[in-house]
Amino acid sequence: KINAIITGVGGYVPDYVLTNEELSRMVDTSDEWITTRVGIKERRILTEEGLGSSYMGRKAAKQLLRKTGVDPDTIDALIVSTTTPDYPFPSTASIILGKLGLKNAFAFDMSCACCGFIYALEQACSMIQSGRYKKIIVVSAEKMSSIVDYTDRQTCVLFGDGAGAVLVEATEEEGIGFQDSFMRTDGAGLPFLHMKAGGSVCPPSHFTVDHRLHYIYQEGRNVFRYAVTDMSDDVDYIMKHNGLTAEDVNWVIPHEANLRIIDAVAKRADLPIDKVMINIDHYGNTSSATIPLAMWDNEAKLKKGDNVILTAFGAGFVHGAMYLKW
Ligand code: ACO
Repeated sequence: KINAIITGVGGYVPDYVLTNEELSRMVDTSDEWITTRVGIKERRILTEEGLGSSYMGRKAAKQLLRKTGVDPDTIDALIVSTTTPDYPFPSTASIILGKLGLKNAFAFDMSCACCGFIYALEQACSMIQSGRYKKIIVVSAEKMSSIVDYTDRQTCVLFGDGAGAVLVEATEEEGIGFQDSFMRTDGAGLPFLHMKAGGSVCPPSHFTVDHRLHYIYQEGRNVFRYAVTDMSDDVDYIMKHNGLTAEDVNWVIPHEANLRIIDAVAKRADLPIDKVMINIDHYGNTSSATIPLAMWDNEAKLKKGDNVILTAFGAGFVHGAMYLKW
């Protein structure tokens, strides 16, 4: 039986470090508020003009190709998750594919907000398990700073830029790789988390620019409640469905929107916090890139056969959990 397994991880974060201290000079906030309420100390920002998500995604994917030594001509598909595509069209995936010179692949974007990585990974694993594809690159690339209003203290402290990439390959080895997933979408999320303009309902105009409608709109308290409930339920489902106890789990890699959300999810699953990979303190919320960036940061800790649970939540609402044997 053919299964799918992650065989390599790449990542990229821009050099510019935006600290809480610098943000407190831009809006009415403080290091103390951000640290205690959200758990972020600093985040990376892509400051160079004219560069978008594809630039960071390409860097992460290039590093992945270099590290794995895989022949680019053998890549079957490239899936890119992004909330901040370079352009409404063409897809960011087609731009990255062109820059990487993948000659025998097809590429497409997935728009699943902060859940994009696990939705894209689910897609890649299913494609490989079908037997039709052998090597797929999943990239999550986010220039969140391009949709953040740096005059709004409720959102501007939360987000950062970055990209992660993984190679997913076919394996016939038993007992490793993809094990299970539980994915759900709940359309109730629209009023609480969205961007008001720039889409087909409200195309860009002088009005939308003047009224600052091209930025993230979030009702944080409501989103917080849904995020804790859904991510906890999803992890609970995955553990029970696979007979996993807290002891059996080696790592949980959660989407990083708020350290308090991560703490609550870990507590509900009885998991000690040192089994949870956390990067929110130094990268902030990089939307769909948080999970592959945590894998990239902690690659040396991930050992073959480890029981790894991924879980994410984002605008939509989209949420889910996945169980991998590394
Ligand atoms: N600095 C100082 N004070 C602030 C700041 C700030 N940066 N931001 C808000 N406040 C104030 C508010 O104005 C409010 O003041 P008030 O009581 O006088 O009205 C007070 O702090 C409390 O505000 P809350 O919104 O209740 O703060 P909360 O503890 O809920 O934290 C946060 C806000 C961090 C946004 C939290 O609600 C959260 O993490 N929500 C979930 C985010 C999430 O999971 N998003 C999904 C993924 S993102 C995606 O998909 C794109």
